[in-house]
Amino acid sequence: MAFKEHHRDRGVRWRLSGRLRGALPLFIFQFICLNQAEAQIRYSIPEEMKKGSVIGNVAQDLGLDLKRLRSGRARIVTGENIQYTELKADKGTLVVNERIDREELCGDVTPCSFTFEILLEKPMELHPVTIEVLDVNDNAPTFQNSHLEFEISESAALSSRFVLESADDADVGENGLQNYILTPNDNFILKTHVNPDGSKYAEMVLQKPLDREAQPRLSLKLIAVDGGNPQRSGTVNIDVNILDANDNSPLFNQSVYKATVIENAPKGTPIVTVNASDIDSGSNGQITYSFSKSKAGIADLFDIDEATGNIYVAKEIDFEKDKKSSELKLKIKAD
Ligand SMILES: *[C@@H]1O[C@H](CO)[C@@H](O)[C@H](O)[C@H]1NC(C)=O
Ligand SMILES: *[C@@H]1O[C@H](CO)[C@@H](O)[C@H](O)[C@H]1NC(C)=O
Repeated sequence: MAFKEHHRDRGVRWRLSGRLRGALPLFIFQFICLNQAEAQIRYSIPEEMKKGSVIGNVAQDLGLDLKRLRSGRARIVTGENIQYTELKADKGTLVVNERIDREELCGDVTPCSFTFEILLEKPMELHPVTIEVLDVNDNAPTFQNSHLEFEISESAALSSRFVLESADDADVGENGLQNYILTPNDNFILKTHVNPDGSKYAEMVLQKPLDREAQPRLSLKLIAVDGGNPQRSGTVNIDVNILDANDNSPLFNQSVYKATVIENAPKGTPIVTVNASDIDSGSNGQITYSFSKSKAGIADLFDIDEATGNIYVAKEIDFEKDKKSSELKLKIKAD
């Protein structure tokens, strides 16, 4: 776009200088215009050609011999700040003089071209030359960040969507951004969408429930690829921290704890320690122990430490009185 502005500026300057110089230059100006229409040349070259690379044989394409180029002091006139091309009058060729970066010259605009004139004197001739600059896949898709982080609850609903960062590729057409790829994983699939301006973005969609206890953290990669040859790509790492939901119950490490206690054991005698664990985290995994209510009132004979699961004698046990059998059954709860 900047290039187009330049071009218009230059036209204005020519017209102004024609007017300022009076009648004769105005005549010359019109004469030039006539010639301009006759011998237009146009070349297509890839961007980023090496300095000195031949763009075309201007002498041949304009039907001029080398002598005429010399006697006419053939040269390039341009309104651009950068002299991208050079005329080799001894060979009649046009060569690359400065690095031509299509992205710098035209940005997103296609096709991309710039124009200048070849000027000869005695008699004066002016030949416009247009150089079309073709895109080369010299840019990879890039993400602004190298790392994305998500915190997602393991209770997140299926089909939940998480929008991912978009990549940019300065190249155009096939050489521009084509697609996104997410590293294979069990939980998320990738959906790619097209914005109204044609740019593409992707989101992760939850397709299998997350389970913090099975996998507390997922490390994924989002890859953006272009359609050039060779293909170029950019990558962003995605870390998903899975937040806990209270989806697990405490589990005892044994289904039965057996212990013996002697008759008349004093109050406070330790009997056994029970042990349960809960794989949920934080307060979801905290455990307190207590006895289930028992009809026979056996639980009254013992104390359980709510925090440690240690079971003690609570009051003197008299088997003859309390129970004919010497076996006591207790149910313990963990919450
Ligand atoms: C509870 O049991 C587990 C597995 O049997 C063991 O690793 C852990 O150390 C026990 N906890 C206590 C407090 O003894
Ligand atoms: C269960 O935990 C208790 C208390 O920590 C311990 O004494 C016992 O050995 C554990 N049992 C097993 C099977 O690990």
